[in-house]
Amino acid sequence: MMSSNTRGIHGIWMSRWTFIMAATGSAVGLGNLWKFPYVVGNNGGGAFVLIYFLCMLLVGVPVMMAEVVLGREGRNSPITGMSYVVKNSECGRAWQLIGWIGVIAGLLILSFYAVIAGWGLHYILEVSNGNVIGVDGESAASLFADLTSSPAKLIAWQTIFLGMCLLVVTGGVKKGLGAAVEILMPLLFVMLLVMLIYAILKGNFVAACRFLFEFDIASVSWRAILEAMGLAFFTLSIGMGAIMAYGAYMPEGASIGRTVLIISFFDSIVAIIAGLIIFSIVFSTSGIEPTAGPGLMFISLPVAFGNMPAGQFIGIIFFILVVIAAWSSAISLLEPAAAWLVEAAGFTRFKASFSLVGFVWLLGLGSVFSFNLGKDFTLAGFTIFDGLDFVTSNIFLPVCGLAISVFVGFVMNRDVLSRQMADLEGYLLLIKTPSSSKTLSLRVVWDWVLRFVAPIAITAIFFMGVYDNIRF
Ligand code: PFF
Repeated sequence: MMSSNTRGIHGIWMSRWTFIMAATGSAVGLGNLWKFPYVVGNNGGGAFVLIYFLCMLLVGVPVMMAEVVLGREGRNSPITGMSYVVKNSECGRAWQLIGWIGVIAGLLILSFYAVIAGWGLHYILEVSNGNVIGVDGESAASLFADLTSSPAKLIAWQTIFLGMCLLVVTGGVKKGLGAAVEILMPLLFVMLLVMLIYAILKGNFVAACRFLFEFDIASVSWRAILEAMGLAFFTLSIGMGAIMAYGAYMPEGASIGRTVLIISFFDSIVAIIAGLIIFSIVFSTSGIEPTAGPGLMFISLPVAFGNMPAGQFIGIIFFILVVIAAWSSAISLLEPAAAWLVEAAGFTRFKASFSLVGFVWLLGLGSVFSFNLGKDFTLAGFTIFDGLDFVTSNIFLPVCGLAISVFVGFVMNRDVLSRQMADLEGYLLLIKTPSSSKTLSLRVVWDWVLRFVAPIAITAIFFMGVYDNIRF
C-alpha cells in the first residue's frame, strides 16, 4: 500500500509546529475577537464562558480530532480525501458528502467573512487618519453607518482582502500557507500581548475579569448552552473542511490528540484574552454597554480608543490584529476548494485560487448589499448576510460535525483508525468506585464521546438553532 505521506499531491507542512500554527491561525479569527466578546456580553458573562469551555472540551476537541484523522488519512482535499477514506471503509458512498459540504460551506462563509474583515481594514485607516479621536457614541455609530451604507467602499475592501487571501493560497502549502502562518501567528500573539498589557494598565481590568469570570448559574438558559456550543464549533473551525484540509498536510508521526489539545488551548486563550482586552477598554469608558452586540467592536471600541491615552496607536494595533486573525482564518476557508480544483481539474494553484476568489467575490456582493441597497430584501426574516451566517453556522456546521463524529465513531475502518490514533491507547484513566476500580484508555473515552455525547449534543444544537431563529 502507498504510504499515506506520499499519497497527497500538495506536500506536507515543514513540521508539526507549522501545522499547529496553521490550524491555530484558522481557529483564531473574527469568531474569537468579534463574535466571542459580544455573544458573552449578550449572555451575561461568566456562566456562559464556563459553558463555552465545557462544550469546547467535551465536544469540540474530540470532533476536531476526528476531523484531523479524516484529513490525514485522506491526504488530499476534503472531497478527494473523503472518497478515499470511504472506499477504504467499505460503506455507503453518501459519506463522501462530508467533504462536499465542508468545501461548499467554506466558500459560503468566506463570502461574508471577507466583508467583515474588510471593515477591519477600513478601521485601520479610519483610526490612522485620526477620525475616531474624541468621538462619542453617536458619531462613532454614524462613522460605521457611512461605511456600511456605501457599496463602493465595502466592495473595495472586500476585494483587497480577497486579494490578500489569493496571494497566500496561490503559494501552496509550504511557500504560501506555511510561510504566511509562520510570520502571522507570532505577530498576532505579540500584538495580543501588547493589547493585554495596555488593557491591564489603562483599562478597567478588574471589571473585565469580574464580567468574564464571576458567574451566576441561575442566569444560564438552555438556549445559552446551545449558543455556546455553536460558538465553540465556529471558533475551532470544525465541520467546514478547513481542519480536514490542513490535517491532510500533517506529518505522519505527530500525535493528533496532543496537537489538537494545543490548538484548542491557543484558541480558548485568545478568546479569553480578547474578551479581557475588549471589556477592560469598554468598561473604562462610561456610557458603553457590554451588550452592544455586533457593533461592539466597530462602534463601542472606537469610542473608547478615541478617548483613551495613546488610543490612536493602540487602536491601529488592534485593527491590524483583527485583520491578521481574519486573514489567517480566511485562507483556510479557501484552501479546501483550491486543493480540490488542483486535483480534480488539473488547475494550477494560481488558476484555482483566482477562479475561487472571483466566485467568492461575486457571492460576497450579496452580503455587501445586505447593508445598503438590498437591506429590505429578506427571506424568512434574513438578509443575505444574516441568512448565510445562519445557514452555515446553524445548519452546515452541525450537520457536518454530526456526520464526522458518527462516521469516525461507527463507520470508519477500525484498523485505519487505530493506526491514526495509536497513541491515545497509551493514556489510561483510573475509574474508582467504592467496590471496584477499572482502567479506561483515552481511546475508549474518545470513541464514546464520538458515538454518543457529541451526536446527541450536536443534534440538540441543530434543532434549537433552527427553531429559535427562523421567523416566518
Ligand atoms: N474559526 C474562525 C473564527 O473563529 O473566526 C472562523 C472559521 C474559519 C470557521 C475557518 C470555519 C472555518 F473553516
